[in-house]
Amino acid sequence: MSSVSAQGISKEYAGALALRPLDLEVGEGEFLTLLGPSGCGKTTTLRLLAGFLTPTQGRILFGGEDVTRLPPQDRRIGMVFQDYALFPHMSVADNIGFGLVEQRRPKAEIADRVAELLQLVRLPGAGGRYPAELSGGQQQRVAVARAVAHSPRLLLMDEPLGALDLKLREAMQQEIRRIQKALNITTVYVTHDQLEAMAMSDRIAIMNHGRMEQIGTASEIYEQPRTRFVADFVGQINLLSAKVGPEGVFVAGQKVRVDRTPEFDFTLGVRPEQMRLLPAGQLAPSDRSVLRGKLVARHFVGNITKISVDLGAETTVTLDCHPNDVIVEVGEAVQVAWLPDKAVTLVD
Ligand SMILES: Nc1ncnc2c1ncn2[C@@H]1O[C@H](COP(=O)(O)OP(=O)(O)OP(=O)(O)O)[C@@H](O)[C@H]1O
Ligand SMILES: [Mg+2]
Repeated sequence: MSSVSAQGISKEYAGALALRPLDLEVGEGEFLTLLGPSGCGKTTTLRLLAGFLTPTQGRILFGGEDVTRLPPQDRRIGMVFQDYALFPHMSVADNIGFGLVEQRRPKAEIADRVAELLQLVRLPGAGGRYPAELSGGQQQRVAVARAVAHSPRLLLMDEPLGALDLKLREAMQQEIRRIQKALNITTVYVTHDQLEAMAMSDRIAIMNHGRMEQIGTASEIYEQPRTRFVADFVGQINLLSAKVGPEGVFVAGQKVRVDRTPEFDFTLGVRPEQMRLLPAGQLAPSDRSVLRGKLVARHFVGNITKISVDLGAETTVTLDCHPNDVIVEVGEAVQVAWLPDKAVTLVD
């Protein structure tokens, strides 16, 4: 049974649909990330799960129990937000133990639990300090410890690392994932950073304009995106407008081999690292998709060289080459080739 099951939930704000009806299943102990651009409905989804909002339609189950009408305090959830929202006038230990004090747990039990959590978030000995005496990353670890102190059945995090600089954010990604695994706590995490989502998640749900476009593991999303939006949002991709006719599929006026031919014109997506560059005269292996063009730019960026090839018909593709492989100069005629099954057919 899923730990969390959202069934056809939608949300309207004053008549405006912010979230289209969606289904979401989160497994026991799973780390699921909601990923998407600003305004796509990530926070709305999280607040529905938390109980701060009531869905316009649909219902939410936790472990089979319908919690749609339960207020947040009765849902056994823990939450972490971008602004750590620690109580500044309370010590770290009191911050972590706050919820347990509210629940009137025995003092000794609270002290034990706080000590255990300080160990877990690698801040032993920091219990007597105040939030202002901690770094941003340390404060966020305290916020995580506070969120899980009462052993919630679901941990919800909304851009918890948004305020940290890149290096610290990367370290904290590992740290949060470690803590989440140690507790085996079902988690729904929100970010608009695709690398963060890929680094942390068991599965990622890609959202756009209040719609859930695709859910899958990082490699499923990256290798088999279904829509243009997903393909473009996660990583880089060449989006080629493909015309379907009686003679086959054409891109930039050139016939090209595809894995399967849809009935109608479509978008063919090919990742830059899947494309190979060939000199104009070289015969490509017969099982490849090949397009002819002219090399118009090359940029050495260290581990790779980024190559742009103009295919004509106002179509340019970008490919990643190993620096030693680029034997063609700007202005020369070239071919780009890829394995047909490495290209994806995308819908809008
Ligand atoms: N209280 C509200 N009243 C009216 N509209 C709202 C309210 N909260 C959010 N919205 C709208 O609902 C949509 C989704 O908002 P939401 O906060 O869920 O987006 P988000 O994905 O979390 O974005 P961000 O990455 O910027 O935090 C947006 O169009 C937003 O303007
Ligand atoms: Mg948000």
